[in-house]
Amino acid sequence: MKKAPKFVYVCQGCGFQTAKWMGRCPDCGQWNSLVEEALGPVEKSPFPQEIGKPVRVSDISLDPDLRLKSDISEFDRTLGGGIVPGSMVLIGGDPGIGKSTLALQVAALLADKGIKALYLSGEESQQQIRMRAERLSVRSENLFILNGTCVEELFRRVEDFTPGLLVVDSVQTVYTETLPSAPGSVGQVREVATKLLNWSKGTGVPTFLVGHVTKEGAIAGPKVLEHLVDTVLYMEGDPTHAFRIVRSVKNRFGATNEIGVFEMKDRGLEEVGNPSRIFLEERPRGAAGSVVIPCVEGSRPVLVEVQALVGPSPLGMPRRTAIGVDHNRISLLVAVLGKRMGMEMGDQDIFINVAGGLKVTEPAVDLGIVCAMVSSFLDKPLADDLVVFGEVGLAGEVRGVNQPEMRLREAHKLGFSRCLLSKRNMEGGRRIQHMKLIGIDSIRGLLDVLY
Ligand code: TYD
Ligand code: MG
Repeated sequence: MKKAPKFVYVCQGCGFQTAKWMGRCPDCGQWNSLVEEALGPVEKSPFPQEIGKPVRVSDISLDPDLRLKSDISEFDRTLGGGIVPGSMVLIGGDPGIGKSTLALQVAALLADKGIKALYLSGEESQQQIRMRAERLSVRSENLFILNGTCVEELFRRVEDFTPGLLVVDSVQTVYTETLPSAPGSVGQVREVATKLLNWSKGTGVPTFLVGHVTKEGAIAGPKVLEHLVDTVLYMEGDPTHAFRIVRSVKNRFGATNEIGVFEMKDRGLEEVGNPSRIFLEERPRGAAGSVVIPCVEGSRPVLVEVQALVGPSPLGMPRRTAIGVDHNRISLLVAVLGKRMGMEMGDQDIFINVAGGLKVTEPAVDLGIVCAMVSSFLDKPLADDLVVFGEVGLAGEVRGVNQPEMRLREAHKLGFSRCLLSKRNMEGGRRIQHMKLIGIDSIRGLLDVLY
């Protein structure tokens, strides 16, 4: 009798199963949705977690020292104040951005504190890692390097090695014996991550997974990893700049969108304590199109400079380029400007850039972008001591945003003395002294206020 296959292809959309791979799910019609999964008797997890008795939530003790601190405060903060035991953290980012460097630095610092750290590398040889460690001046007695790509082999090793921290670099290079496909395929990545997760939760050892990002910007294994792990950190930054931003996209143990700012030096990543100052460092004085916006990233305020360049287009289809802000948002604001302020920019090329390589996603930047475009269009610089924040609606109304006080306090700290904001935010803002507030409720009167 023929042996039954040990795996099956399952549609990620509807759950349809087939023994043979197909490009399109015959059941729901989705393309490329079939992923192989291991079949057979459900294995008992080698790392069982006892369910135990129900406990009243108030009876559970809270240990403030529960989290492991790497003492890189920018990194600890993105995790919500340190590494939670038994948690799984995914570090994603473009190739060459510095994921391995960050992982090795964090592992080394924890190792210096007496935590036995194991770094599994499927990408670099031990010599290569040693060379990197040399560069980072890492010499910890407690940091161990393991080369390999088989997750079962890893489990056999850790059984008597018992690390206190595990780093897997990268999850795409590691495979499990239960699936026949190549490492890096969706099925493999998910299966490997699930196995590591079970191990992590069962043993209470925190695990860092380093993950590559696909061309579309998702961590390979479309979103499957993000559901599994506790925390997702993305490393971003313009490769031509030295700044690297680590952003928590998901965090079960802290605020999301929290950022840590680093600078890539020749001896590794160095934290940047005061990002606002860095982002504003090279701001041109008295230049049209430049606006400073106090943003809130996670729980921290950051001042960013947004620059706009608006000029008549030689093309039939004027260009709209946005770096660091959402492209669609710009089109929307251009339309609002035309309709509500009579400032037609349909025949203009528009370029928007957030200086320093930061990405800003919150709507509080709307009013700042509008001011930058207006300033560039009219070729009239804004006042040097002015910051701007507020959301702009389709009717041209300026809406209030969260945390006005925090934004104003940061602006004041960096020497700004005036702020253009929504009337709704005036209330909270008044508590900040020495800041002159200019409240508006619509962009109709913007020109009178600005000039
Ligand atoms: P790496 O951590 O290997 O990136 P990833 O794992 O995300 O692919 O970092 C590679 C880049 O970082 C490489 O271009 C060199 C640079 N780098 C420094 O500038 N200084 C350093 O001390 C190190 C270790 C790397
Ligand atoms: Mg790497």
